[in-house]
This record gives sequence, structure tokens and C-alpha cells, in this order.
Amino acid sequence: MKLELKGITKRFPGVVANDHVDLEIETGEILCLLGENGAGKSTLMNILYGLYSADEGDIVIDGKVQNFAGPGDAIAAGIGMVHQHFMLVPVFTVAENVVLGVEPMRSAGILDLDEARRDVEAISNQYNLAVDPNAVIEELPVGIQQRVEIIKVLFRDAEILVFDEPTAVLTPQEVDEFFKIVDKLKQDGKGIIFITHKLKEVLEIADRIAVLRRGAVVGTADPATATESGLAEMMVGRPVDLMVHKAPSHPGEAVLSVSDLTVMNIQGRKAVDGVSFEVRRNEIVGIAGVQGNGQTELVEALTGLREVAGGTVLIQGEDHTDSNPRQIHNAGVAHVPEDRQRSGLILGFTLTENFVLDSYHAVPFSEGIKMDWKASREEANRLIEEFDVRTPSSEIPASNLSGGNQQKVIVAREFGRQVDLVIASQPTRGVDVGSIEFIHERIVSERDAGSAVLIVSTELDEVMALSDRILVMFDGRIVAEKRPEETTNAELGLYMAGAS
Ligand SMILES: Nc1ncnc2c1ncn2[C@@H]1O[C@H](COP(=O)(O)OP(=O)(O)OP(=O)(O)O)[C@@H](O)[C@H]1O
Ligand SMILES: [Mg+2]
Repeated sequence: MKLELKGITKRFPGVVANDHVDLEIETGEILCLLGENGAGKSTLMNILYGLYSADEGDIVIDGKVQNFAGPGDAIAAGIGMVHQHFMLVPVFTVAENVVLGVEPMRSAGILDLDEARRDVEAISNQYNLAVDPNAVIEELPVGIQQRVEIIKVLFRDAEILVFDEPTAVLTPQEVDEFFKIVDKLKQDGKGIIFITHKLKEVLEIADRIAVLRRGAVVGTADPATATESGLAEMMVGRPVDLMVHKAPSHPGEAVLSVSDLTVMNIQGRKAVDGVSFEVRRNEIVGIAGVQGNGQTELVEALTGLREVAGGTVLIQGEDHTDSNPRQIHNAGVAHVPEDRQRSGLILGFTLTENFVLDSYHAVPFSEGIKMDWKASREEANRLIEEFDVRTPSSEIPASNLSGGNQQKVIVAREFGRQVDLVIASQPTRGVDVGSIEFIHERIVSERDAGSAVLIVSTELDEVMALSDRILVMFDGRIVAEKRPEETTNAELGLYMAGAS
């Protein structure tokens, strides 16, 4: 099958998201689509998937112009999509989600869930996508939820599969497995459109590379000859420094002291098991670990989002073991949460409202009960400018921003005020190389300005580049403490896998 996008143009109020885009893909090849945050990648794929209709241009399959009125038509034409933000129903099981919309029916129109479960198992065995068909989605970590999305697409017999930043939420081990899956799909004759901000991955997996900037295709590259820095420059239109520069740290007194902390997960099992550590002023501590080893629950407990089952949390010597998120915020803590759409933003609110989400009740944004919208909008515009958030205005809902720009809104809000402690989970998830450079610089300057910084990242390279001290978490415990200069990715990888 051959798919062509011809002259696709899509305008939103104030932005041309796609500007006469031409792109081709055939089954049996992997096309990597690159571009900075807001370049128009997801929009283009949503048009291909029938979610948006183009203002101009055609989708052509094997020479025939298509008219997709919705995803149903795209699916029928053999297009499958795993979205940047998953579209699963949280309270349904894996099997129920997979069959949603194409339910296998027993006679008399009764949903045949046994058959659904068998299908899920067959696909997951074929592609090594281990998942329990009976598990409820909202109880699964993101990495597993993604497997469900992939199974769902395969269940619908897609010929061309679109993956919108599939590796943003995966651990290095999961990425390796994912690449094996993608390779198997290619061998089976599927076409893959793969969107990512990780240039190493592009060079590893692409057969062809296309780059979008401000809605238009600005070039193509051959993975055999392309380099990371060349691709980075093509994406953002200027040279990007892919290294983190920082002076040696001189840590001061402890800002965060965690002793013997125990936290239960959603199933009531011990997720954090007697953890103790400190983060001091002028220090960046990085927590490395495979997703699902207690980091999520640890951060939730530290930020007041999850109950503490045992132990204590001190912030600047004060007991915050049982504090709520607002009390933690008021104690001078910035928090960049792991899941931006669940706990970082209110998608239906404007950017201005999101920027003042934690501070709207205080001066200068309100006096008593009346909001000062002028001051709020000024603050929003200052942050949009400083953090290079790509948006037509501060008064559009956060849901209209591209994924990476949503992340920049959170980072801007959290780093835009004076704090003593920064807790950042996956701070650069889904963010383009130019903005990663900027966010990393900001994290280092927070440290240099005297904050204590705790970074949790499944990106080992990021933990290695930013941290002054690295803690490795495995099975709810801290199993190793290393300085980046005295360790390697390989050694940390062993601790992450449970070696002692
Ligand atoms: N539903 C919408 N309403 C209004 N504007 C939108 C909408 N969806 C996207 N946009 C705008 O279109 C542009 C392209 O966004 P898109 O999500 O396609 O970017 P992207 O390349 O996928 O970026 P990222 O790497 O951050 O995911 C952005 O300026 C965005 O704000
Ligand atoms: Mg996107």
C-alpha cells in the first residue's frame, strides 16, 4: 500500500498548523517525522486518522483520493494510530478497551469478552506485549497502557501504523522491546510513521526522515548520513548544544529530608519501602530507575498527592509528612508532575488560568476574592515569552497547545517563581531538543541559585547529565548511590535491573 499526503493545509485560529505538507510512505518502511514542539506533527497525523479535516490538500491511498469523515473511515482504509496522549477508557479493562468499537458479538448481540481476551492474548504473545487482559486501565502504569494501545491498533488490522511519540513514556528497556516490535511490524509488511524527539532513536530505526518546522516540511534526511546535531539544527533552525554544562556542586544544608518512608500503591502494596535520603541546597539529586519501581509513589507522597504509610518527610526542618499539595506548594516547593494531563494542567482552562493555578488566591493575582486578571495575564505573557511557549495567545485553552508546549507551560509555572525545593518528574518528556537545552539550563540555574533539586527520570542520559548525585530505585528501595563521574550507564542499568 502506498500512502501520499498532498498539499495538506490546516489552520487553527491564529496558527497555520500544516502548510501545504507533502509526505509519502509505503508499507514495509519506517518513516520518522521530526519537528519542534508545535511544528504540526500531531495535527498532520490527526488529519490522516480522520480526526481533523484538512482545509486543503488530499490523502491518497494507492492512487485514490480518500474522504475520511472520521477515524472509522481511516481504520477501514488500513490506518492505525497510537496517540501522543492515550485514548483509553480508564475504568474499562484491557480487553474491553481493545475491542471498544469493534466488539466481537456472540449471538443475540451479547459482547463476547472471552473471545476478546483470547485475541488480546494472541496479539500480545505474537509481539511480546505482555499485559493482563483483565487489568483495569487506570491501575496500569503508562508503559503498559501503551502496550494496550498498540494491541488495539493491531486488533484492527492496520496496514500503516502511526506512533506519535511512543517512546516518550518508555524506559530504555521498554524502548528496546518496542523497537523489536516495530521491526517485526515492518518485517510483516506494515508501514510505520514514527514521531519522536529522540534523535538517537531516529538514527537507529528510520528508513527515511522528514522534518517539519512551523507547519511546513523543511527537509528530508537519510539516516545513513544524518547526525544528531544536524537533525537538531534542521528541526529548530539554529545550532543546539546537546550537552549539559554545569560547575561542580557545593551542597549546603538539607532542604528535603526523607526518613524511612513507606508508601502504598493503588493496589495497597508497598511501593516505597523504607526509603531515606536527603537533597541539599545547591545540589541536584537524580533518581534513576525503571518505571514502576516506586518513583511515582515516592514523588506523589513528597508532593502531598498520596498518603504516607510510614516514616517522615521534612522540608527545611518542618514536618510535611501529611501535608496536602497546597501546603507543600506554600512551603516553597515546585513540582513538575509525571503525567502532565492528569495532574499538571487543567486542559479546559486558558494558559493564564493554568499559570496561576496554585497562586490565584494570593497577591498579586487576587485581592481578597476578586481576581486581578490584568496582573495574571501579564504574568502569563512573561512566562510564555521566557519559556518560548508556542501559542497564538495566553487566552486559549491548554488543550489547544501541542504536547511539548503543554509541558513547557508546567515547567514555566513551576520554575517561574522562587522556590527552595524543585521536584521534577520526567521534566523534558515530549519536549523538543531546543527546549530540552533550555529546561536543562534552567534546572542547573535553579541549583546555582540555591535550590535543592530532585529529578526523577527514566532517561538515564538525562539523569547522568544533570545529577550531582544519583540514587537508583529498585523494587521500592534505594539500591545504589553514585556520582555520575564514578559510574556508567551500564553500571546504573545493572542496579536498575536489580543487581546488588
Ligand atoms: N485543537 C486545536 N485548536 C487550536 N490549535 C491547535 C489545536 N491543535 C493543535 N493546535 C495548534 O497547532 C499547532 C501544531 O500543533 P501540533 O500538536 O500538531 O504540534 P506537534 O508538532 O505535534 O508538537 P509536539 O512535539 O509538541 O507534540 C500548534 O501551534 C498548536 O497550538
Ligand atoms: Mg504532538
